Amino acid sequence: MGNDVPARTGSDVLDTGLAPLGNQRIAWADSHMPVLSSIKERFAKERPLEGAKIAACLHVTTETANLLRTLVAGGADVVACASNPLSTQDDVAASLVEDEGIPVFAVRGEDAASYYSHIDACLDFHPNITMDDGCDLVTRLHQTRADQVAEVVAGTEETTTGVIRLRAMEAAGALGYPIVAVNDAYTKHLFDNRYGTGQSSLDGIMRATNVLLAGRKVVVAGYGYCGKGVATRARGMGSQVIVCEVDPLRALEAVMDGYRVEPMMDAAREGDIFITVTGDREVISREHFLVMKDGALLANSGHFDVEINLAELDRMAGGRRREVRPSVEEFVIDAGEGPGSPGGGSGATGSPAVVGGKRILVIAQGRLVNLSAAEGHPAAVMDMSFANQALAVEWVYGQSRAGTPLDVRVHGVPAEIDSQVAKLKLEALGTEIDVLTEAQEEYLHSWETGT
Ligand SMILES: NC(=O)c1ccc[n+]([C@@H]2O[C@H](COP(=O)([O-])OP(=O)(O)OC[C@H]3O[C@@H](n4cnc5c(N)ncnc54)[C@H](O)[C@@H]3O)[C@@H](O)[C@H]2O)c1
Repeated sequence: MGNDVPARTGSDVLDTGLAPLGNQRIAWADSHMPVLSSIKERFAKERPLEGAKIAACLHVTTETANLLRTLVAGGADVVACASNPLSTQDDVAASLVEDEGIPVFAVRGEDAASYYSHIDACLDFHPNITMDDGCDLVTRLHQTRADQVAEVVAGTEETTTGVIRLRAMEAAGALGYPIVAVNDAYTKHLFDNRYGTGQSSLDGIMRATNVLLAGRKVVVAGYGYCGKGVATRARGMGSQVIVCEVDPLRALEAVMDGYRVEPMMDAAREGDIFITVTGDREVISREHFLVMKDGALLANSGHFDVEINLAELDRMAGGRRREVRPSVEEFVIDAGEGPGSPGGGSGATGSPAVVGGKRILVIAQGRLVNLSAAEGHPAAVMDMSFANQALAVEWVYGQSRAGTPLDVRVHGVPAEIDSQVAKLKLEALGTEIDVLTEAQEEYLHSWETGT
Protein backbone atom coordinates (compact mmCIF):
# COMPACT_ATOMS: atom_id res chain seq x y z
CA MET A 1 0.00 0.00 0.00
CA GLY A 2 1.20 3.55 -0.30
CA ASN A 3 0.55 7.18 0.42
CA ASP A 4 -2.45 7.22 -1.92
CA VAL A 5 -4.53 5.40 0.73
CA PRO A 6 -6.71 7.93 2.56
CA ALA A 7 -6.27 8.13 6.32
CA ARG A 8 -9.34 7.00 8.22
CA THR A 9 -10.89 9.13 10.84
CA GLY A 10 -11.53 7.90 14.33
CA SER A 11 -8.01 6.77 15.13
CA ASP A 12 -6.19 7.81 18.27
CA VAL A 13 -2.43 8.03 17.80
CA LEU A 14 0.12 10.44 19.28
CA ASP A 15 1.06 12.43 16.19
CA THR A 16 0.31 11.61 12.56
CA GLY A 17 3.32 13.77 11.65
CA LEU A 18 5.50 10.85 12.76
CA ALA A 19 4.23 8.75 9.84
CA PRO A 20 7.27 9.18 7.50
CA LEU A 21 9.64 7.85 10.18
CA GLY A 22 7.28 4.96 10.93
CA ASN A 23 6.96 4.20 7.23
CA GLN A 24 10.74 4.00 6.86
CA ARG A 25 11.11 1.70 9.88
CA ILE A 26 8.23 -0.55 8.74
CA ALA A 27 10.00 -0.95 5.38
CA TRP A 28 13.23 -1.90 7.18
CA ALA A 29 11.41 -4.58 9.19
CA ASP A 30 9.70 -5.78 6.00
CA SER A 31 13.09 -6.40 4.42
CA HIS A 32 13.85 -8.81 7.31
CA MET A 33 10.53 -10.65 7.09
CA PRO A 34 10.77 -12.77 3.92
CA VAL A 35 8.30 -15.44 5.04
CA LEU A 36 5.55 -12.93 5.81
CA SER A 37 6.34 -11.12 2.54
CA SER A 38 5.83 -14.29 0.53
CA ILE A 39 2.52 -14.89 2.31
CA LYS A 40 1.52 -11.28 1.58
CA GLU A 41 2.21 -11.79 -2.13
CA ARG A 42 0.07 -14.92 -2.20
CA PHE A 43 -2.69 -13.25 -0.15
CA ALA A 44 -2.79 -10.34 -2.61
CA LYS A 45 -3.49 -12.81 -5.43
CA GLU A 46 -5.87 -15.17 -3.64
CA ARG A 47 -7.66 -12.73 -1.27
CA PRO A 48 -8.52 -15.46 1.29
CA LEU A 49 -9.63 -12.94 3.92
CA GLU A 50 -12.26 -11.14 1.86
CA GLY A 51 -15.09 -10.23 4.27
CA ALA A 52 -13.00 -10.71 7.41
CA LYS A 53 -13.22 -7.87 9.95
CA ILE A 54 -10.19 -8.28 12.16
CA ALA A 55 -9.62 -6.47 15.48
CA ALA A 56 -5.94 -6.85 16.35
CA CYS A 57 -4.80 -6.18 19.93
CA LEU A 58 -1.04 -6.50 19.48
CA HIS A 59 2.14 -4.63 20.36
CA VAL A 60 2.07 -1.80 17.81
CA THR A 61 5.55 -2.31 16.34
CA THR A 62 7.10 -2.31 12.88
CA GLU A 63 6.67 -6.09 12.64
CA THR A 64 3.00 -5.91 13.62
CA ALA A 65 2.54 -3.26 10.93
CA ASN A 66 3.76 -5.78 8.37
CA LEU A 67 1.37 -8.41 9.68
CA LEU A 68 -1.53 -5.96 9.40
CA ARG A 69 -0.47 -5.06 5.85
CA THR A 70 -0.47 -8.77 5.01
CA LEU A 71 -4.01 -9.19 6.36
CA VAL A 72 -5.19 -6.18 4.37
CA ALA A 73 -3.51 -7.62 1.24
CA GLY A 74 -5.56 -10.77 1.88
CA GLY A 75 -8.78 -8.74 1.71
CA ALA A 76 -9.43 -8.16 5.44
CA ASP A 77 -10.68 -4.98 7.01
CA VAL A 78 -8.42 -4.34 10.02
CA VAL A 79 -8.37 -2.14 13.14
CA ALA A 80 -5.67 -2.24 15.80
CA CYS A 81 -5.00 -1.30 19.39
CA ALA A 82 -2.10 -1.93 21.76
CA SER A 83 -1.73 -5.05 23.88
CA ASN A 84 0.48 -3.19 26.35
CA PRO A 85 0.40 0.49 27.34
CA LEU A 86 4.16 0.90 26.96
CA SER A 87 4.94 -1.08 23.82
CA THR A 88 3.43 1.19 21.17
CA GLN A 89 5.83 2.71 18.67
CA ASP A 90 4.07 6.01 18.01
CA ASP A 91 5.66 6.52 14.59
CA VAL A 92 4.41 3.09 13.49
CA ALA A 93 0.90 3.82 14.75
CA ALA A 94 0.99 7.10 12.77
CA SER A 95 2.15 5.40 9.58
CA LEU A 96 -0.52 2.71 9.82
CA VAL A 97 -3.17 5.42 9.95
CA GLU A 98 -1.67 7.78 7.38
CA ASP A 99 -0.06 5.44 4.88
CA GLU A 100 -2.10 2.26 5.18
CA GLY A 101 -5.52 3.64 6.12
CA ILE A 102 -5.73 1.26 9.07
CA PRO A 103 -7.51 2.74 12.12
CA VAL A 104 -5.21 2.50 15.15
CA PHE A 105 -6.00 3.30 18.77
CA ALA A 106 -2.69 3.27 20.63
CA VAL A 107 -0.46 5.83 22.31
CA ARG A 108 2.73 4.83 24.09
CA GLY A 109 2.38 5.44 27.83
CA GLU A 110 -1.42 5.52 27.80
CA ASP A 111 -3.08 5.05 31.18
CA ALA A 112 -5.30 2.08 32.02
CA ALA A 113 -8.50 3.98 31.16
CA SER A 114 -7.21 4.90 27.68
CA TYR A 115 -5.85 1.40 27.17
CA TYR A 116 -9.30 -0.09 27.71
CA SER A 117 -11.10 2.66 25.82
CA HIS A 118 -8.84 1.83 22.87
CA ILE A 119 -9.79 -1.83 23.11
CA ASP A 120 -13.43 -0.73 23.22
CA ALA A 121 -12.88 1.36 20.07
CA CYS A 122 -11.72 -1.79 18.27
CA LEU A 123 -14.75 -3.68 19.54
CA ASP A 124 -17.02 -0.86 18.27
CA PHE A 125 -15.88 -1.99 14.82
CA HIS A 126 -17.78 -5.28 15.38
CA PRO A 127 -14.99 -7.67 14.39
CA ASN A 128 -15.67 -11.20 13.20
CA ILE A 129 -12.07 -12.25 13.96
CA THR A 130 -10.03 -11.29 17.04
CA MET A 131 -6.26 -11.34 17.11
CA ASP A 132 -4.96 -11.00 20.63
CA ASP A 133 -1.68 -10.91 22.55
CA GLY A 134 -2.36 -11.55 26.23
CA CYS A 135 -6.14 -12.06 25.96
CA ASP A 136 -7.24 -8.55 27.05
CA LEU A 137 -9.33 -8.04 23.89
CA VAL A 138 -11.06 -11.40 24.25
CA THR A 139 -11.80 -11.01 27.96
CA ARG A 140 -13.05 -7.44 27.45
CA LEU A 141 -15.39 -8.67 24.70
CA HIS A 142 -16.73 -11.54 26.79
CA GLN A 143 -17.06 -9.48 29.98
CA THR A 144 -18.59 -6.30 28.61
CA ARG A 145 -20.21 -7.16 25.27
CA ALA A 146 -21.74 -10.60 25.57
CA ASP A 147 -24.16 -9.71 22.74
CA GLN A 148 -21.24 -9.24 20.33
CA VAL A 149 -19.55 -12.59 21.02
CA ALA A 150 -21.78 -14.41 18.54
CA GLU A 151 -20.57 -12.11 15.74
CA VAL A 152 -17.03 -13.49 16.07
CA VAL A 153 -16.24 -16.64 14.09
CA ALA A 154 -12.76 -17.24 15.49
CA GLY A 155 -9.67 -15.72 17.03
CA THR A 156 -5.94 -16.17 17.45
CA GLU A 157 -3.70 -15.69 20.49
CA GLU A 158 -0.04 -14.80 20.33
CA THR A 159 1.47 -15.41 23.76
CA THR A 160 1.84 -17.95 26.58
CA THR A 161 -0.04 -15.86 29.14
CA GLY A 162 -2.97 -15.34 26.76
CA VAL A 163 -3.17 -19.06 26.05
CA ILE A 164 -3.22 -19.81 29.81
CA ARG A 165 -6.11 -17.36 30.27
CA LEU A 166 -7.99 -18.81 27.27
CA ARG A 167 -7.61 -22.37 28.56
CA ALA A 168 -9.01 -21.15 31.91
CA MET A 169 -11.96 -19.59 30.02
CA GLU A 170 -12.50 -22.83 28.13
CA ALA A 171 -12.39 -24.88 31.36
CA ALA A 172 -14.91 -22.51 32.97
CA GLY A 173 -17.25 -22.81 29.96
CA ALA A 174 -16.82 -19.07 29.35
CA LEU A 175 -15.22 -19.14 25.91
CA GLY A 176 -17.65 -18.11 23.17
CA TYR A 177 -15.77 -19.00 19.95
CA PRO A 178 -12.78 -21.06 18.76
CA ILE A 179 -9.31 -19.64 19.22
CA VAL A 180 -6.02 -20.79 17.71
CA ALA A 181 -3.09 -20.72 20.13
CA VAL A 182 -0.46 -19.38 17.75
CA ASN A 183 1.99 -19.39 20.66
CA ASP A 184 1.90 -23.19 20.67
CA ALA A 185 3.27 -23.49 17.13
CA TYR A 186 6.83 -24.78 17.31
CA THR A 187 7.96 -22.14 14.81
CA LYS A 188 6.50 -19.51 17.15
CA HIS A 189 7.48 -20.30 20.71
CA LEU A 190 10.85 -21.85 19.99
CA PHE A 191 12.10 -18.90 17.97
CA ASP A 192 10.11 -15.98 19.38
CA ASN A 193 10.12 -16.90 23.06
CA ARG A 194 13.62 -18.32 23.12
CA TYR A 195 15.72 -16.45 20.58
CA GLY A 196 13.58 -13.31 20.41
CA THR A 197 12.96 -12.77 24.12
CA GLY A 198 16.49 -13.90 24.94
CA GLN A 199 18.20 -11.28 22.82
CA SER A 200 15.70 -8.43 23.08
CA SER A 201 15.29 -8.58 26.88
CA LEU A 202 19.02 -8.07 27.35
CA ASP A 203 18.89 -5.39 24.66
CA GLY A 204 16.21 -3.56 26.68
CA ILE A 205 18.22 -3.78 29.90
CA MET A 206 21.38 -2.55 28.18
CA ARG A 207 19.65 0.32 26.36
CA ALA A 208 17.96 1.44 29.58
CA THR A 209 21.00 1.22 31.84
CA ASN A 210 24.17 0.76 29.73
CA VAL A 211 25.13 -1.83 32.35
CA LEU A 212 28.03 -4.23 31.74
CA LEU A 213 26.73 -7.79 31.82
CA ALA A 214 30.10 -9.53 31.96
CA GLY A 215 30.94 -10.66 35.47
CA ARG A 216 27.52 -9.77 36.91
CA LYS A 217 25.29 -12.21 38.66
CA VAL A 218 22.10 -12.40 36.61
CA VAL A 219 19.12 -14.09 38.23
CA VAL A 220 16.60 -15.49 35.73
CA ALA A 221 13.23 -16.39 37.26
CA GLY A 222 11.46 -19.01 35.12
CA TYR A 223 13.28 -21.50 32.92
CA GLY A 224 10.61 -21.88 30.26
CA TYR A 225 11.05 -20.97 26.62
CA CYS A 226 11.74 -17.32 27.38
CA GLY A 227 13.87 -18.03 30.45
CA LYS A 228 16.11 -20.41 28.51
CA GLY A 229 16.69 -17.73 25.90
CA VAL A 230 17.46 -15.05 28.48
CA ALA A 231 19.76 -17.36 30.48
CA THR A 232 21.70 -18.51 27.40
CA ARG A 233 22.22 -14.99 26.12
CA ALA A 234 23.24 -13.64 29.55
CA ARG A 235 25.78 -16.45 29.91
CA GLY A 236 27.03 -15.64 26.41
CA MET A 237 27.65 -12.06 27.57
CA GLY A 238 29.83 -13.32 30.43
CA SER A 239 27.29 -13.15 33.27
CA GLN A 240 27.10 -15.74 36.02
CA VAL A 241 23.53 -16.93 35.70
CA ILE A 242 21.39 -18.22 38.56
CA VAL A 243 18.03 -19.78 37.67
CA CYS A 244 14.94 -19.83 39.92
CA GLU A 245 12.17 -22.32 39.11
CA VAL A 246 9.12 -23.98 40.67
CA ASP A 247 8.84 -26.88 38.20
CA PRO A 248 11.18 -29.78 39.10
CA LEU A 249 11.65 -30.83 35.45
CA ARG A 250 12.58 -27.39 34.28
CA ALA A 251 14.80 -26.85 37.32
CA LEU A 252 16.58 -30.12 36.57
CA GLU A 253 17.00 -29.08 32.96
CA ALA A 254 18.61 -25.83 34.13
CA VAL A 255 21.00 -27.78 36.37
CA MET A 256 21.93 -30.08 33.47
CA ASP A 257 22.43 -27.04 31.24
CA GLY A 258 25.08 -25.94 33.72
CA TYR A 259 23.29 -23.20 35.69
CA ARG A 260 23.12 -22.75 39.43
CA VAL A 261 19.54 -23.25 40.55
CA GLU A 262 18.40 -21.65 43.80
CA PRO A 263 15.22 -20.47 45.49
CA MET A 264 14.62 -16.75 44.94
CA MET A 265 15.21 -16.14 48.65
CA ASP A 266 18.86 -17.19 48.20
CA ALA A 267 19.34 -15.71 44.75
CA ALA A 268 17.94 -12.37 45.98
CA ARG A 269 20.93 -11.93 48.30
CA GLU A 270 23.44 -12.50 45.52
CA GLY A 271 22.00 -11.13 42.31
CA ASP A 272 23.06 -7.91 40.60
CA ILE A 273 20.43 -8.09 37.85
CA PHE A 274 17.07 -9.88 38.07
CA ILE A 275 14.92 -10.82 35.06
CA THR A 276 11.49 -12.40 35.58
CA VAL A 277 9.96 -14.47 32.75
CA THR A 278 7.48 -16.70 34.53
CA GLY A 279 4.00 -15.47 33.59
CA ASP A 280 3.36 -15.64 37.35
CA ARG A 281 2.67 -12.96 39.99
CA GLU A 282 4.85 -11.58 42.80
CA VAL A 283 7.84 -13.70 41.94
CA ILE A 284 9.98 -10.97 43.49
CA SER A 285 8.41 -9.41 46.56
CA ARG A 286 8.97 -7.84 49.96
CA GLU A 287 11.08 -10.62 51.50
CA HIS A 288 13.38 -10.49 48.48
CA PHE A 289 13.68 -6.68 48.37
CA LEU A 290 14.68 -6.78 52.04
CA VAL A 291 17.76 -8.91 51.36
CA MET A 292 18.82 -7.53 47.98
CA LYS A 293 22.08 -5.70 47.41
CA ASP A 294 22.15 -1.94 47.18
CA GLY A 295 21.69 -1.07 43.49
CA ALA A 296 20.05 -4.33 42.47
CA LEU A 297 18.53 -3.95 38.99
CA LEU A 298 15.09 -5.48 38.31
CA ALA A 299 13.47 -6.15 34.94
CA ASN A 300 10.52 -8.21 33.78
CA SER A 301 9.99 -9.82 30.41
CA GLY A 302 6.90 -11.84 31.30
CA HIS A 303 3.65 -10.65 29.76
CA PHE A 304 2.11 -8.66 32.62
CA ASP A 305 3.63 -6.23 35.10
CA VAL A 306 2.74 -8.46 38.06
CA GLU A 307 5.94 -10.47 38.36
CA ILE A 308 7.76 -7.85 40.46
CA ASN A 309 5.62 -6.64 43.37
CA LEU A 310 5.98 -2.95 42.65
CA ALA A 311 3.09 -1.89 44.86
CA GLU A 312 4.96 -3.39 47.82
CA LEU A 313 8.26 -1.84 46.76
CA ASP A 314 6.52 1.52 46.50
CA ARG A 315 5.11 1.09 50.02
CA MET A 316 8.55 0.16 51.33
CA ALA A 317 10.09 3.23 49.67
CA GLY A 318 7.42 5.49 51.21
CA GLY A 319 7.78 8.19 48.54
CA ARG A 320 11.54 7.80 48.05
CA ARG A 321 11.08 7.04 44.37
CA ARG A 322 12.48 8.91 41.36
CA GLU A 323 13.40 8.44 37.72
CA VAL A 324 17.19 8.26 37.41
CA ARG A 325 17.36 7.63 33.66
CA PRO A 326 14.63 7.33 31.03
CA SER A 327 12.91 3.98 31.76
CA VAL A 328 14.79 3.47 35.06
CA GLU A 329 13.23 4.22 38.45
CA GLU A 330 15.10 4.15 41.74
CA PHE A 331 13.32 3.11 44.94
CA VAL A 332 15.15 3.76 48.21
CA ILE A 333 14.13 1.39 50.97
CA ASP A 334 15.43 0.85 54.49
CA ALA A 335 18.83 -0.80 54.37
CA GLY A 336 17.59 -4.12 55.76
CA GLU A 337 19.97 -7.01 56.05
CA GLY A 338 21.30 -7.28 52.48
CA PRO A 339 24.81 -6.73 51.18
CA GLY A 340 25.47 -3.08 50.45
CA SER A 341 23.61 -2.10 53.61
CA PRO A 342 25.79 -0.99 56.52
CA GLY A 343 28.02 -3.93 57.40
CA GLY A 344 26.66 -6.00 54.54
CA GLY A 345 29.43 -6.18 51.86
CA SER A 346 29.50 -4.51 48.46
CA GLY A 347 26.38 -3.47 46.55
CA ALA A 348 25.43 -4.34 42.96
CA THR A 349 26.67 -1.05 41.52
CA GLY A 350 29.88 -0.83 43.54
CA SER A 351 28.99 2.79 44.43
CA PRO A 352 28.60 3.87 48.07
CA ALA A 353 25.29 2.96 49.68
CA VAL A 354 22.64 5.61 50.35
CA VAL A 355 22.80 6.72 53.97
CA GLY A 356 20.18 4.80 55.92
CA GLY A 357 18.81 3.06 52.87
CA LYS A 358 19.48 1.02 49.78
CA ARG A 359 18.54 1.49 46.17
CA ILE A 360 16.47 -0.91 44.13
CA LEU A 361 16.31 0.00 40.44
CA VAL A 362 13.35 -1.02 38.30
CA ILE A 363 13.34 -0.84 34.52
CA ALA A 364 10.25 0.14 32.51
CA GLN A 365 7.86 -0.03 35.49
CA GLY A 366 8.19 -3.79 35.53
CA ARG A 367 6.51 -4.07 32.13
CA LEU A 368 7.90 -6.16 29.25
CA VAL A 369 11.45 -4.81 29.18
CA ASN A 370 12.18 -5.79 25.60
CA LEU A 371 9.21 -3.90 24.24
CA SER A 372 9.26 -1.01 26.69
CA ALA A 373 12.97 -0.21 26.71
CA ALA A 374 14.00 -1.62 23.31
CA GLU A 375 12.20 -2.49 20.09
CA GLY A 376 10.86 -5.94 20.94
CA HIS A 377 11.98 -8.96 19.02
CA PRO A 378 14.09 -8.63 15.89
CA ALA A 379 11.98 -8.65 12.74
CA ALA A 380 13.57 -11.91 11.58
CA VAL A 381 12.02 -13.65 14.60
CA MET A 382 8.62 -12.00 14.33
CA ASP A 383 8.64 -13.07 10.69
CA MET A 384 7.87 -16.61 11.81
CA SER A 385 5.47 -15.70 14.62
CA PHE A 386 3.43 -13.50 12.34
CA ALA A 387 3.59 -15.94 9.42
CA ASN A 388 1.87 -18.33 11.84
CA GLN A 389 -0.68 -15.63 12.71
CA ALA A 390 -1.47 -14.93 9.05
CA LEU A 391 -1.77 -18.61 8.13
CA ALA A 392 -3.78 -19.40 11.27
CA VAL A 393 -6.29 -16.65 10.42
CA GLU A 394 -6.50 -17.92 6.84
CA TRP A 395 -7.17 -21.41 8.20
CA VAL A 396 -9.88 -20.53 10.76
CA TYR A 397 -11.60 -18.04 8.53
CA GLY A 398 -11.51 -20.53 5.63
CA GLN A 399 -13.04 -23.23 7.84
CA SER A 400 -15.81 -20.89 8.86
CA ARG A 401 -16.50 -19.79 5.28
CA ALA A 402 -16.59 -23.41 4.15
CA GLY A 403 -19.32 -24.09 6.71
CA THR A 404 -17.03 -26.29 8.81
CA PRO A 405 -16.16 -23.99 11.71
CA LEU A 406 -13.83 -25.23 14.41
CA ASP A 407 -15.25 -26.40 17.75
CA VAL A 408 -15.47 -23.75 20.44
CA ARG A 409 -12.21 -24.39 22.29
CA VAL A 410 -8.52 -23.53 22.17
CA HIS A 411 -6.90 -25.18 19.14
CA GLY A 412 -3.27 -25.82 18.33
CA VAL A 413 -1.77 -24.66 15.05
CA PRO A 414 -1.97 -27.51 12.50
CA ALA A 415 1.38 -29.25 11.98
CA GLU A 416 1.24 -28.43 8.25
CA ILE A 417 1.27 -24.69 9.02
CA ASP A 418 4.26 -25.10 11.33
CA SER A 419 6.09 -27.11 8.72
CA GLN A 420 5.21 -24.65 5.95
CA VAL A 421 6.58 -21.72 7.99
CA ALA A 422 9.83 -23.59 8.69
CA LYS A 423 10.15 -24.51 5.00
CA LEU A 424 9.61 -20.92 3.84
CA LYS A 425 12.13 -19.66 6.41
CA LEU A 426 14.77 -22.15 5.28
CA GLU A 427 14.18 -21.13 1.66
CA ALA A 428 14.60 -17.49 2.64
CA LEU A 429 17.85 -18.33 4.42
CA GLY A 430 19.06 -20.21 1.35
CA THR A 431 19.40 -23.41 3.40
CA GLU A 432 18.73 -26.72 1.68
CA ILE A 433 17.99 -29.92 3.57
CA ASP A 434 18.02 -33.61 2.74
CA VAL A 435 14.93 -35.38 1.47
CA LEU A 436 13.93 -38.87 2.59
CA THR A 437 14.46 -41.58 -0.01
CA GLU A 438 11.53 -43.85 -0.74
CA ALA A 439 13.24 -46.68 1.16
CA GLN A 440 13.79 -44.39 4.18
CA GLU A 441 10.21 -43.18 4.09
CA GLU A 442 8.97 -46.75 4.04
CA TYR A 443 11.38 -47.82 6.82
CA LEU A 444 10.30 -44.97 9.09
CA HIS A 445 6.68 -46.01 8.73
CA SER A 446 7.18 -49.74 9.18
CA TRP A 447 7.43 -52.00 12.21
CA GLU A 448 8.40 -55.39 10.75
CA THR A 449 12.18 -54.92 10.53
CA GLY A 450 14.05 -55.24 13.86
CA THR A 451 17.55 -56.33 14.97
N1 LIG B 1 8.94 -10.50 26.41
C1 LIG B 1 8.35 -11.03 25.35
O1 LIG B 1 8.41 -10.52 24.25
C2 LIG B 1 7.64 -12.34 25.50
C3 LIG B 1 7.61 -13.25 24.43
C4 LIG B 1 6.97 -14.47 24.62
C5 LIG B 1 6.36 -14.75 25.84
N2 LIG B 1 6.39 -13.81 26.84
C6 LIG B 1 5.79 -14.05 28.16
O2 LIG B 1 6.81 -14.57 29.02
C7 LIG B 1 6.21 -15.40 30.02
C8 LIG B 1 6.88 -16.77 30.00
O3 LIG B 1 6.64 -17.39 28.74
P1 LIG B 1 7.26 -18.83 28.41
O4 LIG B 1 6.84 -19.15 27.02
O5 LIG B 1 8.69 -18.88 28.79
O6 LIG B 1 6.40 -19.72 29.44
P2 LIG B 1 6.75 -21.15 30.02
O7 LIG B 1 5.49 -21.66 30.60
O8 LIG B 1 7.50 -21.96 29.01
O9 LIG B 1 7.78 -20.82 31.22
C9 LIG B 1 7.46 -20.19 32.42
C10 LIG B 1 8.30 -20.85 33.51
O10 LIG B 1 8.18 -20.09 34.72
C11 LIG B 1 8.11 -21.02 35.80
N3 LIG B 1 7.50 -20.36 36.95
C12 LIG B 1 6.18 -20.11 37.20
N4 LIG B 1 6.05 -19.49 38.40
C13 LIG B 1 7.29 -19.33 38.89
C14 LIG B 1 7.80 -18.77 40.10
N5 LIG B 1 6.99 -18.24 41.02
N6 LIG B 1 9.15 -18.78 40.28
C15 LIG B 1 9.99 -19.33 39.38
N7 LIG B 1 9.56 -19.89 38.21
C16 LIG B 1 8.23 -19.88 37.99
C17 LIG B 1 7.28 -22.16 35.25
O11 LIG B 1 7.50 -23.34 36.00
C18 LIG B 1 7.81 -22.28 33.83
O12 LIG B 1 8.89 -23.18 33.72
C19 LIG B 1 4.72 -15.41 29.70
O13 LIG B 1 4.09 -14.41 30.45
C20 LIG B 1 4.69 -15.05 28.23
O14 LIG B 1 3.44 -14.53 27.83
C21 LIG B 1 7.04 -12.64 26.71
